[in-house]
Amino acid sequence: METSSTQSDDGVSASSAEADRVRIFDTTLRDGEQAPGFSMDRRAKLRLAQALEALGVDIIEAGFPQASPDDFNAVAEIARTLRTPTICGLSRCVPGDIDTTGRALESARHSRIHLFLSTSPLHREHKLGMSKAQVLDTAVASIERARALCHEVEFSAEDATRTEPEYLVEVFSAAVAAGATTLNVPDTVGYTTPAEMAELFTYLRQHVKGAERVIFSTHCHDDLGMAVANSLAAISAGVRQVECTINGIGERAGNASLEEIVMALKVRAPHFGVDTRIDTRKLYPTSRLLTQLTGQSVARNKAVVGDNAFAHESGIHQHGMLKHRGTYEIMRPQDVGIAETKLVLGKHSGRHALRSRLQALGHEVEESAMDGIFARFKALADKKREVHDEDLEAIALGHDPDLAGPWRIVQLQAHSNVTVAHRGSASASVKLTHDDGREVGEAAIGDGPVDAVLRAIERATGASLELTHFQVRAVSEGGDAQGQAQLIARYAERDWRGHGVSTDIVEATALAALAIVNRIERQTPAPTLAPALQTQGVTA
Ligand code: KIV
Ligand code: ZN
Repeated sequence: METSSTQSDDGVSASSAEADRVRIFDTTLRDGEQAPGFSMDRRAKLRLAQALEALGVDIIEAGFPQASPDDFNAVAEIARTLRTPTICGLSRCVPGDIDTTGRALESARHSRIHLFLSTSPLHREHKLGMSKAQVLDTAVASIERARALCHEVEFSAEDATRTEPEYLVEVFSAAVAAGATTLNVPDTVGYTTPAEMAELFTYLRQHVKGAERVIFSTHCHDDLGMAVANSLAAISAGVRQVECTINGIGERAGNASLEEIVMALKVRAPHFGVDTRIDTRKLYPTSRLLTQLTGQSVARNKAVVGDNAFAHESGIHQHGMLKHRGTYEIMRPQDVGIAETKLVLGKHSGRHALRSRLQALGHEVEESAMDGIFARFKALADKKREVHDEDLEAIALGHDPDLAGPWRIVQLQAHSNVTVAHRGSASASVKLTHDDGREVGEAAIGDGPVDAVLRAIERATGASLELTHFQVRAVSEGGDAQGQAQLIARYAERDWRGHGVSTDIVEATALAALAIVNRIERQTPAPTLAPALQTQGVTA
């Protein structure tokens, strides 16, 4: 049971490692879960609580037992199951609530009742209808009642940051005398600034009677986007418990984000001079778990755990990263549990990054081939937002034989008249150029757009392909995924292969067909490439 700290007037006693440790109080299952869209059932709550235990949080606020039988049961189950962290239940300063919370926590190895009562003038008058003296007396009576039911009591002065500082000192001094061991200062409406936060804690730590025997805590909301900054300012002013949530979920704009606070303390360790018990390599997996349990993803650009947190697309940044990762990364992705930095290849990426990624994928590209590959990559990047590894492999593989002439597509159109009720025909037209200067346009109808485009290519080139194999598959993910067409045609008693890659499967098929025609023509004098066989019906 935590009963004291060794904080000194100027912040933290240098003689105690404990005084340099910030307790991480996670309220994802209480303040986080009560926000719209984030509710979890009992199984989900237990699953997340176990992940929080593995992450190394010191205190888990498992719920608000008086709120509903479900909440009570979830808190009781977490209290029964988890062994390492302190399990905490939230309670109003109401005897019935306190008793219920005590019962929910009965089997916890370390239990804490978290009492809260508003202290600000606005809340006293409009929410509670209580005088200053009534608030103080209620807080004291509640702390005394809770003490008998758990190992430790935390007292929160709700809306503390809008409370008269002298009155806050009075209430907190009485709370310490009544037996509270953690004093929490919630910035309930996310109103405070970092400088004000530091000033308030400095004042409280100087004036609250018994301040040296308790842990000061902060609980910040993000209404003005300052929750993390305010929490860090509080820590700099000697606070040694921080209340926060995974992914920053919580009421309205959310609570301070656990992963951001923990990584700020770690990355800027010399600046803050404090430590936590968090295994930071579990931050990302825990964040992912929460998104899976709630179905709510985090913004791509979310600090520490967002998809873009370790992704670099600008060519200049990628070049710098490849030379020395410190140029654009202040922490390693592995430190937060992300496998590796993602150099997202897109239209801003340069040759250097492209070559490096191709090498990582096992493709050593000759300098002479690089121009063509890079041009094809840029053309693809213009069509797609991101170019995935599979896309690159397709480009690298498809580059040489498949894109070589003599025939090239300059225009292609396909229209399908097929409906669910009626399998009508499709039509396609192509315009091709030949290295000898010809430009040929042809149109055809077919069973489907793929069949139609194949027939149009046969007409334009004068080739007739007996297809023995036809396959189209997606080679990357997403609505703008690339499709790869693989065709094998029989000609002159030989199999000829061609494959094409495009975000449009009709175009991919046309490229594959043309690759076959080109191979045949490169190896066979033109006059012998005569129409001979019928294309087999293909639909797509
Ligand atoms: O934001 C708040 O004031 C709270 C208290 C219950 C601690 O969540
Ligand atoms: Zn809150």
